[in-house]
Amino acid sequence: MPESLFDLTGKVALVSGAASGLGRSMALALANHGADLVLADRNNPGVADTAAQIGQLGRRALPITCDVSEPESIRALYVKLDQTFGRIDFLGNVAGDGILGKPEEIAVEMLKQVLQNLVVGRFCMCQEAGRRMLKAGRGSIVNIGSIAGVSALGRGHIAYSIAMAGVVQMTRELSTEWSPRGIRVNAILPAQVVNPSLRKRMDADPNLEAQWLRGIPRGRMGQPEDIQGLAVFLASDASSWITGAIIPMDGGNLAMNAGGTIGTAG
Ligand SMILES: NC(=O)c1ccc[n+]([C@@H]2O[C@H](COP(=O)([O-])OP(=O)(O)OC[C@H]3O[C@@H](n4cnc5c(N)ncnc54)[C@H](O)[C@@H]3O)[C@@H](O)[C@H]2O)c1
Repeated sequence: MPESLFDLTGKVALVSGAASGLGRSMALALANHGADLVLADRNNPGVADTAAQIGQLGRRALPITCDVSEPESIRALYVKLDQTFGRIDFLGNVAGDGILGKPEEIAVEMLKQVLQNLVVGRFCMCQEAGRRMLKAGRGSIVNIGSIAGVSALGRGHIAYSIAMAGVVQMTRELSTEWSPRGIRVNAILPAQVVNPSLRKRMDADPNLEAQWLRGIPRGRMGQPEDIQGLAVFLASDASSWITGAIIPMDGGNLAMNAGGTIGTAG
């Protein structure tokens, strides 16, 4: 395939959660392929650092402090995007936390908070991007979901799983409504990708990494860089007939039955 299929020169991408992990990695990959970036995160120094890295790649980057659980904060973000770039070609909807708690114990307020972060936050980001993209008649949106949105993890993931299932279905609805008008909407479902909170849980429970790896046929944990190829593909014209897709990024986790065995011969 010619490299130009993945060329993002002249495009403007907005990535939330861009101060670290999957968001930062996605933003750097898009910039590497020619996009200018709007970087949103509640971590101000972190997002400024990502912007500096993108500047070194010769692309423009606008870092914005934003809390995606607050619709007003999202609206203010898009006003700044309009003022600086006046267009949006790609949205990477990455930021948003879960809270762990057993189903029989978790406070309803906690459940609401997780839904606010992950469902309402992702929806408001899509709605603001969608309004602009519909006017332009083109655009691509990627929602980060989770394997927890289509399979159950246990270990206190009830609120997170409910929310991520909402993100999956939001993606299908938006694709169905908007793709006839030029906007593609897809979701990426990561399995365990090493980040500070996973690292903390692995440090607290020495069996956890081995347990996760028993569910990952590829034989290693995910790294933030694993999202780069998919992000560039979905932002570019190379994926122009891909919409409404729910794409695992999981080292084979979802393909494997819970009773399956990894890598047996004969
Ligand atoms: N890492 C994994 O194993 C994994 C697996 C499946 C899904 N996910 C999802 O992917 C997304 C990114 O995860 P990550 O591994 O990159 O985490 P991370 O902790 O490395 O980065 C998350 C970034 O989002 C920002 N953020 C969090 N809540 C925010 C908010 N309300 N407003 C603005 N910024 C906010 C943080 O400041 C941070 O910079 C999360 O939604 C997570 O649930 C992660």
